[in-house]
Amino acid sequence: MISGRFGEKMKTDIDNNLKKLVLERREIYKGDLILVNRQNPLQDIQPDEYNYRLIPADDRYEGILLKKTAANMLSRLMTACRAGDGIIPVSGFRSTVEQQKLFIDSLRENGEEFTFKYVAFPNHSEHQTGLAIDMAENKENIDFICPSFPYEGICQSFRELAPKYGFIERYQKGREGITGISHEPWHFRYVGYPHSLIIHTKGFTLEEYIDFLKGYPCEGEHLIFRNGEQIIEIYYLEASAQQTGICIEDITPYQISGNNVDGFIITIWRNGNG
Ligand code: DAL
Ligand code: ZN
Repeated sequence: MISGRFGEKMKTDIDNNLKKLVLERREIYKGDLILVNRQNPLQDIQPDEYNYRLIPADDRYEGILLKKTAANMLSRLMTACRAGDGIIPVSGFRSTVEQQKLFIDSLRENGEEFTFKYVAFPNHSEHQTGLAIDMAENKENIDFICPSFPYEGICQSFRELAPKYGFIERYQKGREGITGISHEPWHFRYVGYPHSLIIHTKGFTLEEYIDFLKGYPCEGEHLIFRNGEQIIEIYYLEASAQQTGICIEDITPYQISGNNVDGFIITIWRNGNG
């Protein structure tokens, strides 16, 4: 993902206000908005946590890792919903080897039907991105694959606040035909604000949101998100060649994420920093 206000090495001056960025096609496989599912495998595969910049998702559980921004936002979300010891992270980043082992072990122990419903194929799991976290109600005998995370109490407070902090409940009931995964009340995916809030408000799956944004191409009308004083502009840029050029106003903070399918999603903060 590319973000910033000044100084990316790919930039060249056009004039005082506009900068040209040159985006390499391989960048579509990186960023907070990548869509990873059965049809869209992870392409930016890192063999272990050292190659992603991962940190503990929670200071109490040093082995459960997330990408830095996702971990920081999870920590803020836990504070905001006063989680205390009531809820805990169960599974964050998984290497390819870990996802393979989980998949094979589950096939052996739980059978094919259960495994296909609840465990993504290796290299098709959001857990390999460092952007997904499974949360559990803190009680004895927590199930690693299907932890309890009910729609009430502290778990529900976490769920309701999640979109404000960049997270979505990824695998919702009734959307199995789109996501390819059964209802998982415990699995949250970091996509970043305001995308999380838009997805939540419109009742989209991530698949639907990635499609929806194609209706706001670079050369057409852009999606404008307003929340009080905030104005955030969002649009889709197709990666039609090995390199795609884009001009960005230099005075505005922006973020560019690949969608892991065919292009980029550009987010521009028109005022404030979100
Ligand atoms: N449980 C989710 C689908 C995964 O294995 O990535
Ligand atoms: Zn999960």
